[in-house]
Amino acid sequence: MSDQWSDQAALPSDGDAILRLAARSMFDLFSSMSEGMMLVDRAGRVVWINDSYKRFLPALGFEREEDFVGKPVGEVVPNTQMHHVLETGKPILIDLLTNRAGTFVVSRIPLRDDQGEVIGVLGIVLFDQPETTLKPLIAKFANLQRDLDDTRKALAEQRRAKYTFASFIGSSPAAIEVKRQARRAAQGNSTVLLLGETGTGKELLAHAIHAGSARVNKAFVSVNLAALPESLMEAEFFGVAPGAYTGADRRGRDGRFKLADGGTLFLDEIGDTPIGLQAKLLRALQEQEIEPLGSTKMFKVDVRVIAATSRDLKQMVADGRFREDLFYRLNVLPVRLPPLRERLSDLEALADSLLENIALRSGMPLRELTPSGLAALSGNHWPGNVRELRNTLEQAAMLTDHARLTADDFAGLQGMSATTPSPPLLPSRPLPQLIAELERSSIQSALEATKGNKVAAAKLLGISRATLYEKLAGMKRVP
Ligand SMILES: Nc1ncnc2c1ncn2[C@@H]1O[C@H](COP(=O)(O)OP(=O)(O)OP(=O)(O)O)[C@@H](O)[C@H]1O
Ligand SMILES: [Mg+2]
Repeated sequence: MSDQWSDQAALPSDGDAILRLAARSMFDLFSSMSEGMMLVDRAGRVVWINDSYKRFLPALGFEREEDFVGKPVGEVVPNTQMHHVLETGKPILIDLLTNRAGTFVVSRIPLRDDQGEVIGVLGIVLFDQPETTLKPLIAKFANLQRDLDDTRKALAEQRRAKYTFASFIGSSPAAIEVKRQARRAAQGNSTVLLLGETGTGKELLAHAIHAGSARVNKAFVSVNLAALPESLMEAEFFGVAPGAYTGADRRGRDGRFKLADGGTLFLDEIGDTPIGLQAKLLRALQEQEIEPLGSTKMFKVDVRVIAATSRDLKQMVADGRFREDLFYRLNVLPVRLPPLRERLSDLEALADSLLENIALRSGMPLRELTPSGLAALSGNHWPGNVRELRNTLEQAAMLTDHARLTADDFAGLQGMSATTPSPPLLPSRPLPQLIAELERSSIQSALEATKGNKVAAAKLLGISRATLYEKLAGMKRVP
C-alpha cells in the first residue's frame, strides 16, 4: 500500500483515493505524535496497542504485552470510557482520563464497517502529564473560570434577599400574626400583596418571604413603580428585543421579568403603576408570558410576584385609577402590616435592634434606651412607623453624648409630640385655611427632615411623589 503513493509525486484526484490518503496520513500523524494508541474490538477486548503505548503497561500493573492484549478493556484500564463509545457509537474527541498510571488527555473514535456498524474503538492518548504539557492552557482556563465564578457570585449577592423572618422584629400578637401569614405565603407560589402604611416593613417582609421560599437560591428582583419614569417602564419590565433600537441598545436587553425567572419579582409601590401599563402587567402576571419591546415573540417566564403598596387600592379601584381585574389578580394573598401605634409592645425590642444597627452603621457608640425614653417614644403617634422610629433614634443619638437615651433626649425632636398636651384650641380660622396651612407646614417639615429629598419626603407624608410635586407647584402659586 505504501509504495502506491511513494513513487508518485502527484496528488490523487478522485474522492476515494483522497480519503484514503487523508485517513492514512492522519493515522500516521496520530500514531507518531500521540503518546500511545490502542484498538478495542466489538466485544470490548483490547486487540492491539502501538509501541509507545507499551510504556504505560508497568504503571497499569502488567509486565508483558500478552497479559494486557486480549483482556476486556474495562479490566485492564481503570476508568476507561471505551465501552461507552462502543455502546453509543459517538466519539469522545477530548477527555481527561485519570487512573493509577496518571492523568491523560485522551480521544476515543468509533470504527465502523461498510454498513456503518460499530466494530471497534480506537483510543488515543494525546498527552500524558497534561498538567505540564497543557499548563499554559489550563492556567488560562482556570483564570477565566475564576473570573466567571466571581462575577456570578457578585451578581447572585446583589439579587439575594437581604432579610429573613428573623429580621422582622416583634412579638406582639399583631406582629406574630403577620409573620404567620407571611410564612404561610412563603410556602406557596401565589401572588402576595403586602399592604400597610409607610415604614411598616413591607419591603423587609418581601425579602423575608423570598428567603423563606423554595426560590431562595434564585433571583430576588425589585422594581419600584414610584421611582421609574413611565416612559421607561415597559422596557424595564419586559426587556427590549435585539435590533429594536439603533445605537447602544442594539443587542437587546433583558427585562426584570426575565431577570426574575425562577425567582421572585417584587413590585414595590404597585399603587403607582400608571393606568396605561396596568393592562400589560396584568397580562404578564396572568399568562406568565412576556413580549419584549420590538419583538413579535412571547417568552415564558416562571416568576412569583410580591407586590406592596401603602395606598388604598380598593379606593383607587373605586376612583377608576386602578384596574379592578389587576387588583383581584394581585389580591390573592393579602398581608396587612400593622402600624407601629398598634403594636407599641414591640417598641422596646425594635428600638434595641435599631440602636444596635445605627451604632454599627454610623460608628457611633451603642446607645441604650431608658424607661423614661421608652415612655416618651410610646406616647408618639408614629405616622412614619418603624422608619420614623429609626430616624428619631438616630437623631437623638447624634444630638447627645449620653450613653443612655432619656425622655429629654427625644423632647423637641422632629415628629415627637410635646410631652405636655396643649389645651384644646378654638378654631381661629376657617377649616380649609387651617388644612392648607397644616399641609404646607407638614410638607416643609418633611422636606427639611429629608434634606430636600422629594421621594423620601413623599414617603414620609404618605403621598405619591407626583402628588407632592402637584402640591409644591400649588404652594408656589399661592404664596
Ligand atoms: N418589624 C421590623 N423589624 C425591624 N425593622 C423593621 C421592621 N419593620 C420595618 N423595619 C425597618 O424600617 C425601615 C422601613 O421598612 P420598609 O422599607 O420595609 O418599609 P415599607 O413598608 O416598605 O415602607 P414604604 O411604604 O415607605 O416603602 C427599614 O429600615 C426596615 O428595616
Ligand atoms: Mg417600601
